[in-house]
Amino acid sequence: MTSPIRTEREGNVLVIVSDNPPVNALGQSVRAGLADAIAQGLADADIEAMVIRCDGQTFFAGADITEFGKTPQGPSLPAVLDQIEASDKPVVAAIHGTALGGGCEVALACHYRIAAPTAKLGLPEVKLGLIPGAAGTQRLPRLVGAKAALPLVALGNPISAREALDIGLLDQLAGGDSLAADALAFARSKIGLPVPRASEGTANHDGVRDPAIFDEFRAKHGRAMRGFDAPNAAISAVRAAGEMPFAEGVKRERELFAGLMTGTQSKAMRHYFFAERAAQKIADLPANAQLLPIAKVGVIGAGTMGGGIAMNFLSAGIPVTILEMQQEALDRGTAVMRRNYEASAKRGRMSDAQVDTAMSLLTPTLEYGDLANCDLVIEAVYENMEVKKQVFARLDEVTKPSAILASNTSYLNIDEIATATQRPGQVLGLHFFSPANVMKLLEVVRGAQTRSDVLATAMKLARKIGKVAAVSGVCPGFIGNRMLSKRQGQANKLIMEGASYWDVDDVLLEFGFPMGPFQMGDLAGLDIGWHRDPTKVTTVREALCAAGRFGQKAGKGFYDYDSARQRTPSDEVRAIIADFAAKAGHAQREVGKDEIRERLLYPMVNEGAMILDEKIAQRAGDIDVVWINGYGWPIHTGGPMFWASTIGLDTVVAGLDKHGLPVSNYLRERAGEGGTFG
Ligand code: 3HC
Repeated sequence: MTSPIRTEREGNVLVIVSDNPPVNALGQSVRAGLADAIAQGLADADIEAMVIRCDGQTFFAGADITEFGKTPQGPSLPAVLDQIEASDKPVVAAIHGTALGGGCEVALACHYRIAAPTAKLGLPEVKLGLIPGAAGTQRLPRLVGAKAALPLVALGNPISAREALDIGLLDQLAGGDSLAADALAFARSKIGLPVPRASEGTANHDGVRDPAIFDEFRAKHGRAMRGFDAPNAAISAVRAAGEMPFAEGVKRERELFAGLMTGTQSKAMRHYFFAERAAQKIADLPANAQLLPIAKVGVIGAGTMGGGIAMNFLSAGIPVTILEMQQEALDRGTAVMRRNYEASAKRGRMSDAQVDTAMSLLTPTLEYGDLANCDLVIEAVYENMEVKKQVFARLDEVTKPSAILASNTSYLNIDEIATATQRPGQVLGLHFFSPANVMKLLEVVRGAQTRSDVLATAMKLARKIGKVAAVSGVCPGFIGNRMLSKRQGQANKLIMEGASYWDVDDVLLEFGFPMGPFQMGDLAGLDIGWHRDPTKVTTVREALCAAGRFGQKAGKGFYDYDSARQRTPSDEVRAIIADFAAKAGHAQREVGKDEIRERLLYPMVNEGAMILDEKIAQRAGDIDVVWINGYGWPIHTGGPMFWASTIGLDTVVAGLDKHGLPVSNYLRERAGEGGTFG
C-alpha cells in the first residue's frame, strides 16, 4: 500500500505532504508516514528545515475516529508529535481548511504555524465526549495561556486564523493563495535559530497567578456544560498544565482521555457524529440523481414559522419571495425578520451590512403570481388539510412546471397534499422546527411519489442553509412529533394519577433535556390552537387558558413566572389538575421519578422501533438525529435509540410491561435477541 505521506525537496527544506482524503485524518498510515518523513529530514544533512502541509480540502482534521475503540496500532500520535517537536531543525505547519483535534495538536508540536486566512483551528474533542489526547491540553496553554486555551479545549468551537494569530496560536497569516510558498520562505527564515517548543512555553503561568479564571469559566459556561463529563475533564487538564511539569501534565491528560474514551458519553457522541453524516445518505437513491438548481425560493406565510424559514435562505444568500394574504400581516412579518437579524447583529453574530444584504434579498408580496419564477416554494400556513390543498392547487397553477412544492406541515399527509397538484413527484415535506432560523433540524418528508432528484436536491439544500437533515416517510407526525405524542400522552396521564407536573419537567431536565413538556407548553404559549371560549373547558390546558394562564408571555401558565422568568409551581394549577383528576375518577398516588422517567421515555423508544419497522425512518441513527437536533434530546446519551441500546432493550421492554404499556413485536424481538437497533 502506498503511504499517504510523501516528501518533496525544495533545496534545503523538506516538505512533508499528506494526501489522505477526505479530511486527512491521522490514521495509522499517516502517523507512520509522518514519523518516517521526520526521521528522513533529520537524517539528511542537506535538509535544514521542514514544512508539514496537506493536499486536498484540509489540513489534518483530527485523529481517525473510526480507529477509536479498536486495538491501537503504532506509532501513537503523541509519540510522533514528540518526535516532531524534538527536532532541532525548524518544523513549520502550513495550515489550510480546518486544523482540528489531533490536527491542531500536530500544529502545536511543530515549532511554527502559518495558515491561510480562511483556515480554522480548534480542539473539538469535547464534542465527541473526549479531550485532546496528544498533549494538546498541555502544549496549547503553554503557548497561548490558560485563559485563551480554556474555551478552545472545554467548549470545542474552532476559531478563525485571525483569532488564532491574535492569541498567539499562529505565527503568521499566509497570503490568499500562497500558503505553500509563504511557508517555505518562513521555514528558510528560521534556519539556524534555536527552535521554540510549545511544551517549554510559559504562557500558562496566567492560570497559576490567577486560578480564579477556572472558576469564572465554569460559572460562565456552567449551563452549556451541564450533564457533560468532557468539559470538566478539559478544565482539569488545562489546570494541570499550570500546576505540573509537561511530562506529568501529559500523563494526567492521558488518564482523563482514557477514562472518557471508555465511558458511555463518548461512545454516544461518536455514534452521533457518524449518525449525522449517515442521515444525509439515502439508501435507494441512484448515485447519479441530478440536483436541481435552487436560485430562488418562495415562502407562503410570513408568520413566525414562515419568517423563520425565509431567514434560512436569506442568510445563505438565496433570494426569497414571501407571500401573505394581508398587507398588515406581510409588514408585520418582514419587520419581525429585520428585528431578528438586528438582534443577531447586536450580539455580534453578523454585521450591519450583512443584515442589509439579507433583507435586500427579500421580496414581500400579496400576489401568488409573483412566485412564478421560484424554483422551490415552501408553504407554512395553518395546519388544515383543506387549506393546504387549496394552497398547493394554486401553487401548481402559478409556479413554473419545474418548481418543487414543499409543505412545512408537522403532521399532515404529504401524499394527500400532493393530490392537489399535477406534479406529485415534485411535492415533499420540509418540516422546520421553531424557531426555524435557529433550530438545526430539517425533517425531509418523502412522499410516495417524491422523485429522487427532488429528494436529493432537498438534502443538498438543507446542508447549504446549515441544517441537519433526516428523511422521514409519511405517517402522522413523521418521526419527531409521532414520538413526541407518546411522551406527551404519558405526561398528561402521569399528572392525572398524582405525579406533580414539576416532577415530570424535572425528570427530563435531570436527564439532560433543556426543558420538560409543561415548561415547553408555557414557553410556546398554551393558547396556541385554543378555541378562545372560556366557558368551554374539557382539558387542563383549556382550563388554564380560561383562567388567563397563557404561559410565559402572560407571566403565568403551568408555572408562575417572576420578572427574571424563574418558574414556581402554582397552587391554582395544582387545584385545577386535582379537580380534573377527581372528576375523571383517577385515584391519586405518589409517583416516583423512576416511574416518571420510564413512562416518558420508554414509549418513545417503542414508537421509534415501530417507525423503524414500518421503514418510516431509514435507520435508528436517523431517529437519534431528529431527536437531538429538533427536540433537545441530550447528545451525550446518543439519542433515544442509542440510549435504549445502552440501557438494554430488554430493560425497556420489561419497563413497558411493568407499567402496562404497549410493546411492539419489533421491539420485543430485538430485545429477545439481546440486540440493539444497529
Ligand atoms: N476521522 C474519521 N473520519 C472522519 C473524520 C475523522 N476525524 N472527520 C471526518 N471524517 C469523515 C466523515 O465521517 C465523512 O465520511 P463519509 O463521507 O463517509 O460520511 C467524511 O470524512 C467527510 O466529513 P464531513 O461530511 O463532515 O465533511 P465536511 O467537509 O462537512 O466537514 C470537517 C469536514 C469539518 C473536518 C468535519 O468532518 C469534522 O468536523 N470532522 C471531525 C473533526 C474532529 O472531531 N476532530 C477531532 C477528532 S478526535 C481527535 O483528534 C483526538 C486527538 O486529540 C487524539
